[in-house]
Amino acid sequence: MEKQTLEELAGTIREAAASPDHTAAIRAVLQASQSRKEDLADAIAKLDEDEVMLFEDETCSIWTCRYNSDVVFAPHEHCMGVHIAVYRGAEVEVLYKREPGKLRHGGNRLVRAGDVVRLGPDAIHAITADDEQSLAIHVYEGPLTQVQRSLFEWTTGEEVEFTMENFHAMARRKVDMTEFN
Ligand SMILES: [Fe+2]
Repeated sequence: MEKQTLEELAGTIREAAASPDHTAAIRAVLQASQSRKEDLADAIAKLDEDEVMLFEDETCSIWTCRYNSDVVFAPHEHCMGVHIAVYRGAEVEVLYKREPGKLRHGGNRLVRAGDVVRLGPDAIHAITADDEQSLAIHVYEGPLTQVQRSLFEWTTGEEVEFTMENFHAMARRKVDMTEFN
């Protein structure tokens, strides 16, 4: 039942992503999905992994995402727009701008259950949850695993190859970060 819930949503997102006005269409599908946010949150809660790719082709990549509030994953780019629909808890997008020799913190954006937001192709964010685990869908406007993209060293902003190994190795504890004080 839960698996069907996510598969149905992924199917609807795929249709939207293949349509001419795909950015608005994906957003509309995700906003409509919020009427089933409890079912979708339950389905994402039951998955074995915190991040699961449901689908990818040249038009979109669809991932389920669970984050915990004590760990902040390192700043990274996507090189494409991303829509974030949170179904339970709240995600925190910790936003940065690259400047010569450093990363400048540009503020934190809270995305609560029921919200749908989009980050543009130039966005750099670190990511965590607010005060309980967050459950969400992220829809990227292209083939995320096919593009070469970077993580950024927290202080210097130096580029680091994006691999899942580096992504997890560079995580920080929220209590150690000035961005949350
Ligand atoms: Fe991201």
